[in-house]
Amino acid sequence: MPSYKLECDVMADEIKTVETDVLVIGAGGAGMRAAISVNDAGLKVVMVTKSLLGKAHTVMAEGGIAAALGNVDPQDNWTVHYGDIIEEGVYISDWKMAEILGKEAPERVLELERYGALFDRTPDGRIMQRAFGAHTYRRLAHVGDRTGLELIKTLEDQVLHRDITFYDEMYITNLLKKDDKIIGAFGIKMTTGEFFVFKSKATVIATGGSGRVYKVTSNSWESTGDGIGMAFRAGVKLRDMEMIQFHPTGMVYPPGVKGLLVTESVRGEGGILLNSKGERYMLRYSPQKKELDARDVVARANYREITEGRGTEHGGVYLDITHKSPDFIKHKLPAMYQQFLEFAGVDITKEKMEVAPTVHYMMGGIEVEAETERSNIENLFAAGEVASGLHGANRLGGNSLADILVFGKRAGDAASNYARNASLVDVPQELVDNEINYVKGFFKENGKNPYDLIDRLTTCMSDNVGIVRDEEHLKKAIDIIEELKEEFKDVGTKGMIRYNHGLLGCLELANMLISCEAITHCALMREESRGAHTRSDFPKKDKNWKKNIITYMGADGKIVYEVKPVDPMPKEYEQYVKTEVYE
Ligand code: FUM
Repeated sequence: MPSYKLECDVMADEIKTVETDVLVIGAGGAGMRAAISVNDAGLKVVMVTKSLLGKAHTVMAEGGIAAALGNVDPQDNWTVHYGDIIEEGVYISDWKMAEILGKEAPERVLELERYGALFDRTPDGRIMQRAFGAHTYRRLAHVGDRTGLELIKTLEDQVLHRDITFYDEMYITNLLKKDDKIIGAFGIKMTTGEFFVFKSKATVIATGGSGRVYKVTSNSWESTGDGIGMAFRAGVKLRDMEMIQFHPTGMVYPPGVKGLLVTESVRGEGGILLNSKGERYMLRYSPQKKELDARDVVARANYREITEGRGTEHGGVYLDITHKSPDFIKHKLPAMYQQFLEFAGVDITKEKMEVAPTVHYMMGGIEVEAETERSNIENLFAAGEVASGLHGANRLGGNSLADILVFGKRAGDAASNYARNASLVDVPQELVDNEINYVKGFFKENGKNPYDLIDRLTTCMSDNVGIVRDEEHLKKAIDIIEELKEEFKDVGTKGMIRYNHGLLGCLELANMLISCEAITHCALMREESRGAHTRSDFPKKDKNWKKNIITYMGADGKIVYEVKPVDPMPKEYEQYVKTEVYE
């Protein structure tokens, strides 16, 4: 094992080297499922996370996992699920990924059950499935309203009982790249200040999305787009970054929990939306599907009711399930019952909830090959929210949990196949020096506080790149992001690396700026309204925009934006999908 020279006065006194066949960056659902696959393949796997094992946005998919098991509605099957994905993604999803998900989600759910997950049951003992927005049939296998948590805990058990090494509170600063391949990654153990060089034959990124680049979000502090940032700097292609999902229902008060998710299962179990006049307005916006229309439709309706003055005292709309019995509510929605009682002092069996849209998910991310989750770098793979393609312009609720299991497994399998025939490469000292200098560069007297910049950046994104966008606001956002990129050169912190929250802010801000720039530029480019991307100055869907936007760093270090037509699905699959209509 080579030893690396260390010249750094702000940290512990050695660099540790860890060697593995496959390195998995991120320890939420996708990362854990990928690691399990590598372990099943008999290869060495090391998992790293900047947070704690299983502490991930996965838990915020509360209402269920979508899989065409047909337990409640026997007419359901993969072709119906496939059609729902393509239609909900407004025809810019990767059809192959939709096919794979439709076909493989049921087996991944059954596997999760074999791993020990305890799903709610039908009266005859099969896995219970509930209704969710824009799914043709009742399709969401669930555990009350804590499905993501059950998934995480089940995978965590698997990880802990297998020979899988994990490092938590380990911040990866960058991927290490040599001769167009990823040879590992550089990390800082935040609790000790030690530097780590991870050497790997193949690497899987599963770091989740960038939801924290917005002020009001359901995402917890981890979702700062670190995977997007490190991949982009390594020359990886991103796709459809403008596609940000606003969940229709987040909490609006008290201020400390603003944005916290109110699961779609409330509506799936019969909850209705009302404005301050007591009007059930979804009858106007979507007479057929009402509260269970696609997320973009319901989120825009909520937004309009609020901005047009029919909102509640705290700037939301009402979500009401009091017409159901207290026993039913406590049984089906125990987490929501608890959440509102403890945080807002509201008993949802007797009182209406106040809710408003909250940033929940990014459909865009690293462009991957459907079957293998391989990026444009041959030994770099991505799975989960950090990857793109499946959800197109809008994601169906419950498809994120299916996504992380189906494509987490496939990424782990493909990385193992690659690693089996590959060798470790020594990391040149120069690459290590670059990372040490990058980190040291943030230690300065009178550096700007990164959290002040993060506050301005997130405000800018919420104010200008929100549910409804237009050229004026998007250009304003681009100007602010440019200003913040300039100011970023002066951010800094003091003291030691160990437990240095200021350093974490600097590192995360670098990645957040990349996501924000890509989201905003792509949103400006897409001159139409499609799915989650709504432009008030281009209110219609445009057939010339049945395209994906690809973003990457060009050879000169400048960002390249390219537009490419959607890969057409095979003729025989067209029967599963409604014909796309343009006004
Ligand atoms: O509302 C929810 O329970 C969220 C589910 C999801 O985003 O998949």
